[in-house]
Amino acid sequence: MFKDKGTDMTLHYKFKQQIYNPETLSGKFRMKRFVRILGEYLAGKKGKALDVGCGMGVATFALEKLGFKPVGIDTSKTFIGKAKDLATKKKLISKFYVKKATEIESLKEVFNTVVFMGNPLPHFSMDELDTAIRKSWNVLNIDGIILFHYMDWVERLFSSYQRVLVEKNQENEVMLSYHSMLDTTSGAFERLFVIPERGEFFKGRFYIWSPWLLEYLLKKNRFKKIESDNLEGSLWITKATR
Ligand SMILES: C[S@@+](CC[C@H](N)C(=O)[O-])C[C@H]1O[C@@H](n2cnc3c(N)ncnc32)[C@H](O)[C@@H]1O
Repeated sequence: MFKDKGTDMTLHYKFKQQIYNPETLSGKFRMKRFVRILGEYLAGKKGKALDVGCGMGVATFALEKLGFKPVGIDTSKTFIGKAKDLATKKKLISKFYVKKATEIESLKEVFNTVVFMGNPLPHFSMDELDTAIRKSWNVLNIDGIILFHYMDWVERLFSSYQRVLVEKNQENEVMLSYHSMLDTTSGAFERLFVIPERGEFFKGRFYIWSPWLLEYLLKKNRFKKIESDNLEGSLWITKATR
């Protein structure tokens, strides 16, 4: 009999944690890519950087490599614990806190840049991202940069959405997932995930984001010089200045 673990994306991250771990091969590969992307889009910028939805710190440590003084925040205690352990082990200056994106003012710090890397946007409803962007404006210096690295889910839904997906992790465990619901009143879809070997199933809820939606929220919250670039496939960068 399968155990129902509820609606809980931490199980999805647990299954795919190698990707988010800065010490694994895929984590190191992602960090190199983030160093390249952040180096390009934050060229000439230095100082304090806030990494929102930092996970285990792949982008936070990339920011440190580029000479920033980074702070990473995430809602996952496990990820923040791992990021803190890594920073101590490698004698890095990056700081990490368990905190929601909508609580960044409580850090009581001012930043030169705020980044959302590695597609954290599906976790945010329209209201939550609106609040997070407004608060980012409040904690940024004048001319500070806000940067989003994310998937255009509208493009993905039109072109290559897979209603049934079979994924494997590095341990060769299989995870099946099935499209279960599209909710156009909140802009989200749900999938049902099944990990047969663990005898577990859970639901994941993903908010749909696309460049024009994000650009609208940035404009509404007084950001200037808003630009979006298509990196590859459905991956985008949107950058704006306070
Ligand atoms: C797709 S992962 C990206 C992690 C990391 N940026 C990376 O690229 O390795 C999204 C992260 O956002 C975190 N998250 C979800 N909701 C959040 C919120 N409201 N505030 C801050 N972080 C959140 C999750 O715990 C998860 O670690």
